[in-house]
Amino acid sequence: MTFPGSFPTTRLRRLRRWGWSQALVQENTLTPGDLILPVFVCEGAQRQAIPSMPGVFRHPVELLPEVAAQAEELGVPAIAIFPATDPGKKSEDAAEAFNPENLVCRATRAVKQQLGDRLGVICDVALDPYTSHGQDGLVRDGYVVNDESVSALCRQAIVQAQAGCDVIAPSDMMDGRIGAVRRALDEAGQGRVALLAYAAKYASAFYGPFRDAVGSASNLAGMSKSTYQMNPANSDEALREVALDLAEGADAVMVKPGMPYLDIVRRVKETFAAPTFAYQVSGEYAMLAAAAGNGWLDRDKVVLESLLAFKRAGADGVLTYFAIEAAQLLRK
Ligand code: PBG
Repeated sequence: MTFPGSFPTTRLRRLRRWGWSQALVQENTLTPGDLILPVFVCEGAQRQAIPSMPGVFRHPVELLPEVAAQAEELGVPAIAIFPATDPGKKSEDAAEAFNPENLVCRATRAVKQQLGDRLGVICDVALDPYTSHGQDGLVRDGYVVNDESVSALCRQAIVQAQAGCDVIAPSDMMDGRIGAVRRALDEAGQGRVALLAYAAKYASAFYGPFRDAVGSASNLAGMSKSTYQMNPANSDEALREVALDLAEGADAVMVKPGMPYLDIVRRVKETFAAPTFAYQVSGEYAMLAAAAGNGWLDRDKVVLESLLAFKRAGADGVLTYFAIEAAQLLRK
């Protein structure tokens, strides 16, 4: 006896048998064109390693165009720039965020000068790399205030747009900021700049290594961002956030973090059919890099599998610290 009862007439294994038949029925693909590389910039002349993100570096402005050119050559369409601001330049009012000579503006100009329209430059809008308290907005009586923060975010967006960035990505989660930033950009003559809204951004512990990278972890001193970032327990609320951001003029939306939130990516894509991105955040990078570094996971395979999973969930693209590495693997 080999098989109890009747034999199956439908055998899904038939088309899994050969490489050619697998290729024919493959539903989703990952290409370098799906990837966005987040990069950290710092002062000084030396690249700096980030201990909680082995393999990721902070780059001096002068060395960033080289990294950007590598991404462009591999077919990665865009980079997202984040600054490790000198502690001495951080303040209560985040004044450095509006300085046209700050790290992000200088980095944007350097990359655009070298690569022009061949590579997109995305700049985050949020005050946390510039505030002495590490919060994304302005703090009054211990609370991150909304509308005053939005005014500051508009100023930050304009300075970054004037430096030449192509996409402004507000990651601050203040109410009404997408509409306000859109109006501010248009009034400043920056109508060409697109908005990628971090629409569903959760108050997540997976951002830990990023906060080390930009040096905001010590400023935050254990304070949470849960009065503005979303509760990880919620899913309907993500759809309300996305609906508002699209109505206010977002050109594309983002879900963040990534891997633990693929259900949100799927709901957002199915509900709105808008360009939808996901961020495989620093903590996700750290987990995979640590396990691979210990020999517990096959790095090449998990990197590509994790990124393909975003495509399957409905994402149009993924922000990932693995972008260059994944593009190299895909080229092979
Ligand atoms: C800043 C910002 C954060 C990230 C992107 N933009 C950190 C935070 O909200 O605390 C996290 C990215 C990552 O973890 O890779 N608002």
